[in-house]
Amino acid sequence: MMWLSRLAYGLGLLSTVTGTILQNGQVRETNYPDTRIDLAAGSYTTFANNACAISYLGRWDSKKVSWWAAPGIRFGFTGQTVAVTFGEHTIDGTLVGYRLSGLDWQFTNVTAGGTHLFISPETEGIDLTAPVSPNTFEMRVTNWGYGIQIDSVHVGEGDKIVKVAPQPRFVEFIGDSLSSGMYNSYEALSGFAYGVGQGLGNTEYSITAYPGICVADQDCWGNTRGQSHQWFYTTDNSWRSKELYGDEPEAWDFEKQQKADLVVINLGTNDANAANNVSSATYIEHYKRLIQGIHGVWPDAQVIVMQMWQGFYQDGNSYNQNTDFRNEVYSVYEYFNSEEYLNNPVIWDGITEEATETNEKAKPFVHFFNTTGILQHNDIAPQWHPTDVGQIKVASHLIQFITQKLGWHLYATGPEVFADTLYWNDQSGY
Ligand SMILES: *[C@@H]1O[C@H](CO)[C@@H](O)[C@H](O)[C@H]1NC(C)=O
Ligand SMILES: *[C@@H]1O[C@H](CO)[C@@H](O)[C@H](O)[C@H]1NC(C)=O
Ligand SMILES: *[C@@H]1O[C@H](CO)[C@@H](O)[C@H](O)[C@H]1NC(C)=O
Repeated sequence: MMWLSRLAYGLGLLSTVTGTILQNGQVRETNYPDTRIDLAAGSYTTFANNACAISYLGRWDSKKVSWWAAPGIRFGFTGQTVAVTFGEHTIDGTLVGYRLSGLDWQFTNVTAGGTHLFISPETEGIDLTAPVSPNTFEMRVTNWGYGIQIDSVHVGEGDKIVKVAPQPRFVEFIGDSLSSGMYNSYEALSGFAYGVGQGLGNTEYSITAYPGICVADQDCWGNTRGQSHQWFYTTDNSWRSKELYGDEPEAWDFEKQQKADLVVINLGTNDANAANNVSSATYIEHYKRLIQGIHGVWPDAQVIVMQMWQGFYQDGNSYNQNTDFRNEVYSVYEYFNSEEYLNNPVIWDGITEEATETNEKAKPFVHFFNTTGILQHNDIAPQWHPTDVGQIKVASHLIQFITQKLGWHLYATGPEVFADTLYWNDQSGY
């Protein structure tokens, strides 16, 4: 079963995007507003991209360029205006989602070097002053491969931006195309990782996921390194990263992010693909390195390893599911719960590529999420990825698993998580 076509990787070579969403082969009507403005024509108070009131969500490099899936920014502001100027390393036409306080996601595409007006006195709800006060602005990149660069942000003349307090919980997702929402309507913003992070409520999250990537540190569908290495770096290893950093990406400074309470890993679908030639032993070894690395960075974090849900096939007059590397993922879970590991934990440093034994005993911290039975054959789209509905099913079950395993409560109180999923029957009888 091929999960990521070469075509999809090839798309990454374009630096201007087309802005068309195809839905079941039809062009989806979008009518996103054109938000580009001429900055010189108005008067604003401007803040540089390093203003401490701006929270950078997910991974951003020292040039304030975004990487991986669903990276974003958030800040509070006074007044009724928010505009952002994008730097030259922005992929022209990148679709971003943005929202005012607890109101619904809006979408627009942004331009390299352009200034875009996201909030203005005409924005619906701008005159409402509670319960979120001051208003907040949040913007996230929808596509896993395109990126934006923040040059500066602007508010009304005499107005200011305000730091929003961090959320009390943090979840880190590490994955591939499945976690990055490839082939979903709003890509990362339609994926299960986003759905869990956002859907838990009172939770901050980061989605370190990129299509085609293996956990094994080798070339998989053009990703030159695997997650057991790349997770320790700021950038994914896309053409965009190669263009800016060659083979010397910036190491990720974990101090720049909130300490994770929970790490969710979904990796192996690409390792299991015969085209990438990853042996079962290599898969297990590198998966262990990744978890040993996480344990080194955040010794108190809980880790959930997900059983992959491989594709379905028709089996006579019914359907069945492929089970590649299922036993291997489970064996990783068993290893981290064994006396052998807990009595003598090993820490992996992804930068120096060295394993160190620690003398401190560890408490069990790795959990196994059995995904069998969540998806059915029609939850997988023709491009071998879950449909929007499939992603929502995985997110819902995973949220429930987290509440049960970790005793976490759900705090989302109503603000939209998934955009454009409101479809229903509006007549009571046909
Ligand atoms: C988004 O970008 C594309 C390509 O630049 C353009 O054709 C499309 O109309 C854009 N605008 C909106 C608002 O969707
Ligand atoms: C796959 O891996 C095996 C063992 O490492 C090696 O002998 C073989 O040449 C590889 N095949 C390809 C197509 O790379
Ligand atoms: C996962 O769940 C399925 C269905 O309940 C079960 O058959 C299977 O044994 C479970 N796998 C593990 C590793 O517990």
